Amino acid sequence: MQSNQQFIDKNQASQLFGNPFPWYAKMRRESPVFYHSKRDSWMVFRYNDVKRILSDWQTFSSKIPHPPEQTDFTQALNVTDPPKHRSLRTLVAQVFTQRRVELLAPRISEITHELIDRVQEQEQMDFIHDFSIPLPVIVIAEILGIPVEEREDFKRWSDGIVAEDLCAYQAMGDYFRHLLKQRRGKLGKDLVSDLIAAHEQGEKLTAQELVDFCMLLLVAGNETTTTLLANAIVCFHEYPEAYERLKNEPTLLPVAIEEVLRYRSPVQTITRFTKVETQIGHQTIPAGQLIQVCLGSANRDEQQFKQPDEFVIDRKPNEHVAFGNGIHFCLGAPLARLEATIGLQAVLERLPNLRIEPDAKLEFVANEDIHGLKALPVLF
Ligand code: HEM
Repeated sequence: MQSNQQFIDKNQASQLFGNPFPWYAKMRRESPVFYHSKRDSWMVFRYNDVKRILSDWQTFSSKIPHPPEQTDFTQALNVTDPPKHRSLRTLVAQVFTQRRVELLAPRISEITHELIDRVQEQEQMDFIHDFSIPLPVIVIAEILGIPVEEREDFKRWSDGIVAEDLCAYQAMGDYFRHLLKQRRGKLGKDLVSDLIAAHEQGEKLTAQELVDFCMLLLVAGNETTTTLLANAIVCFHEYPEAYERLKNEPTLLPVAIEEVLRYRSPVQTITRFTKVETQIGHQTIPAGQLIQVCLGSANRDEQQFKQPDEFVIDRKPNEHVAFGNGIHFCLGAPLARLEATIGLQAVLERLPNLRIEPDAKLEFVANEDIHGLKALPVLF
């Protein structure tokens, strides 16, 4: 059974941000490859088309043309194609390994409990501001080995990056250049030092590639993980019986997190660029066109998932594409999953009565590519 809390619905646009799913369903049926004139790009809605596009980088490039004035941050992993992508990914994957991520578990747990300690007495918080934003930011600061006294600056810049503030990009870029210079003199045990030392067949990351990668970790890892954590609370709220079951069977949590990723995918769309003329379904697409690959729609495709519009807490199999697919599959997926598991486990244990404030007006961020709330007042 579904609860019926109202999400804010000020106008049609905000409804599309909060609940694009009926529109996606209509598009999958009637117009699965659709030219969206406002976005000057083709939107692709069906699961099979989405998967095919993401596994064919020769046709669908990640190298999106940038305005000529933009020179920084154009060589980052996520916006390159092979062979460049292959060499970058091989180097960073050596460092950003599953094992390294697993070693972070005790520290992620400590940070989680510190965040809960700060609010426990208050019996209420903004889950996003007080919990789901700081958790990934502090974890990534630790991974990068940012000294504690510089955390405040770091937090300010990461907030600025989320808000797409160009000055924050500049400040963060300068900061990383400085940090990398320092580390070169004295390598430590942190990820930045390992990235500096990483090499493959004589190849190393250049100074600019190192800066770009550090910044990419913030851009790609923070808001997405924040949104996953908060979307989990929204799903549990919408499906109170599933929430109760989870409290009694906490081992279900990893599977439940996969279902949150499918049902309310933090990243709704990602972009590709056609290198040659191609066909998607019945539609011919010329070379040089932007494609918006709609992960949020693929994850609700009735051809792939039974009861796609239901949150099925123990859904198996669940081959969602919330982390993408193919060569650009999310490098941070193991970290995001670990943070979500540890973070939500602690919430279930320590704040078992956590619920969304009944009178709260829940407003989604005004961004078609990210599916998440601006704030999430909760009581416990
Ligand atoms: C729930 C959280 C997350 C979601 C939903 C998510 C989603 C995605 C998606 C959809 C892609 C594919 C982009 C494309 O194909 O164009 C991607 C790539 C990437 N993600 Fe994540 N991500 C999450 C967390 C993280 C974290 C925690 C990190 C690291 C700290 C991270 C780092 C990256 C990187 C570096 C790439 C680029 C990989 C490549 O191009 O080879 N992500 N992510």
